[in-house]
Amino acid sequence: MSSVNERKSARLFFALWPDEMLRSRLVGAAGSLRKTMAGKWVRPENLHITLAFLGDVASERLPDVLRTGGETAGAGFTLVLDRAEFWPRNGIVCLGARETPPALEALAGSLAGRLGEAGFTMERRAFRAHLTLARKGRSDRTRIDLPEPVAWSVDGFCLVESRLSREGSVYIRRESWLLQGPEATPGTPAVR
Ligand code: 2AM
Repeated sequence: MSSVNERKSARLFFALWPDEMLRSRLVGAAGSLRKTMAGKWVRPENLHITLAFLGDVASERLPDVLRTGGETAGAGFTLVLDRAEFWPRNGIVCLGARETPPALEALAGSLAGRLGEAGFTMERRAFRAHLTLARKGRSDRTRIDLPEPVAWSVDGFCLVESRLSREGSVYIRRESWLLQGPEATPGTPAVR
């Protein structure tokens, strides 16, 4: 596979990436929803939460993107994914959170701000933390509370490259950075 440096551009985004243990809990949550929600399900290895979407970036700008990631500091946090949502407007089936941790809002805001300052065009759409489980979804319900919420103790974030293959999108983690902390929400088990 050619590296991003050898190609003219790459499709990039910053994301929260689950470890294996968390991934299996996410797959379990997705499985329990299949009775009520349908769609083209995201492959387990592709599950993530997007923090900031850059789109196509010229390879000579990659150092700026990496620098921005490295300069972005933030505190760790626990995100409790406690409900499934269906967004009829774009057909997304996703996991969401009743409460978005302020440190998560701050991290996404800080990345978007710094990327904007570095000259990247960011979406104007407000950040809404969600983990996409399926696309082209169908459901009669727009919200289902999860019987077993998934608590994600987040201690870092990463830069991901998206490549299109015959099987669909392949996501390659290019770089990752640690957050300070991690600070678990009091009373919330730090499930990883
Ligand atoms: P989504 O899950 O809500 O579709 C890789 O494409 C990731 O970037 C996906 O998680 C996707 O979010 C997110 N993303 C955000 N804005 C996007 C855009 N304009 N086009 C494609 N993906 C986008």
